[in-house]
Amino acid sequence: MTTTPRIDSLAQYHLLGRSGLRVSPLCLGTMTFGTEWGWGSPKETAHRILARYLEAGGNFLDTADGYTGGTSEQLIGEYFAQHGGRDGVVIATKFTINTSPGDPNAGGNGRKNIYRALEGSLRRLKTDYVDLYWLHAWDGLTPVEEVMHTLTGLVREGKIRYIGLSDVPAWYFARAQTLAEREGLERIAALQLEYSLVERNIEREHIPAALALGAAITPWSPLASGLLSGKYTREGVGVKGDGRLPSISTSGNPGFLKLFTERNWGIVDALKDVARQLDRPPAQVALAWVTRRPGVASTIIGATRLEQLEANLRALDVEIPAPLAERLEAASRPELVHPYHFFEEAFFTGGMFTGGTTVRSEPTWFRPSPGRR
Ligand SMILES: NC(=O)c1ccc[n+]([C@@H]2O[C@H](COP(=O)([O-])OP(=O)(O)OC[C@H]3O[C@@H](n4cnc5c(N)ncnc54)[C@H](OP(=O)(O)O)[C@@H]3O)[C@@H](O)[C@H]2O)c1
Repeated sequence: MTTTPRIDSLAQYHLLGRSGLRVSPLCLGTMTFGTEWGWGSPKETAHRILARYLEAGGNFLDTADGYTGGTSEQLIGEYFAQHGGRDGVVIATKFTINTSPGDPNAGGNGRKNIYRALEGSLRRLKTDYVDLYWLHAWDGLTPVEEVMHTLTGLVREGKIRYIGLSDVPAWYFARAQTLAEREGLERIAALQLEYSLVERNIEREHIPAALALGAAITPWSPLASGLLSGKYTREGVGVKGDGRLPSISTSGNPGFLKLFTERNWGIVDALKDVARQLDRPPAQVALAWVTRRPGVASTIIGATRLEQLEANLRALDVEIPAPLAERLEAASRPELVHPYHFFEEAFFTGGMFTGGTTVRSEPTWFRPSPGRR
């Protein structure tokens, strides 16, 4: 593969939701920086991947305090301490995951943990501010008012610049954003959620909410942890192939077990077929699909090898013609369940509310299953 230093499409920045923050359309995920979890990259490879991403024009890095026991943040901090350039990048990190078993306040989304987690992240990242601070996951416990007031306070103190929510129910995001708008608190710039050809459940609630309330979607695991690279084959109820999935498929983690269904293998087959017709690797086609979905501002990609990154950075230039997009749609379309089938009838195909007339509105609405009957 030929490598050109700059990739123009990567340096065409997007605003993150209704904020002034400019980010690359592909964000570099760094959950694989460090070997502690058994499937990441050692320091030298991680730094080469980071250097190449920056050289190509990328400016957006995603990490978390919990990734590889803190090594991911540490490797990012060491890189910029050595090479400079920290102010030119958007560093996003997260809090929520408990790091001290037995201590209920060393995790979750309460004020005590947010301050504790941020101090640790700033130390490991060797910086005095975080550009985008993510709540990693809803903890089901902390009042939303406490979370929003704490994060707003940190923005006002200058310790963080923007805020986002990852892995939360859509109702929780809607409540937080409405509270922010009503009380003059910091607005949520983005939602970070799993989104790929095999995981489209956020189309029902999260994407419509993000469009209506002015937040960007930043998908994680856009290749379904590598399944959509097309390099794996079925092995009983698991997988065979060179990568992280064979080992983690036996870990018992339900997040990974859900990957190996008949439906998903059918999606992989359709993807491979489309990729063959476009003469592109399946990973590029899968990434091209997700980057163009409504509401998506920046897609968080992962790579454990430089060649994977190089290939994935080319995804932004892949066009999927309508007939091939329809093939992917037919294989991966989410099931139309209650109450969405009611809306489909009422709004789109039946005219139940409009008396058969056409009524145009601002494009803040996302139709979860276009064309389905
Ligand atoms: N908020 C959350 O809860 C959450 C959860 C998960 C991830 N994330 C974020 O999202 C980022 C990306 O997640 P992810 O790593 O799961 O993303 P992904 O894009 O679904 O999977 C990336 C993995 O697929 C394989 N791969 C990538 N490109 C390939 C290619 N061209 N050919 C063959 N194999 C390829 C590599 O794994 P192998 O080493 O196995 O080959 C790579 O590490 C993370 O780093 C993190 O920042 C967030």
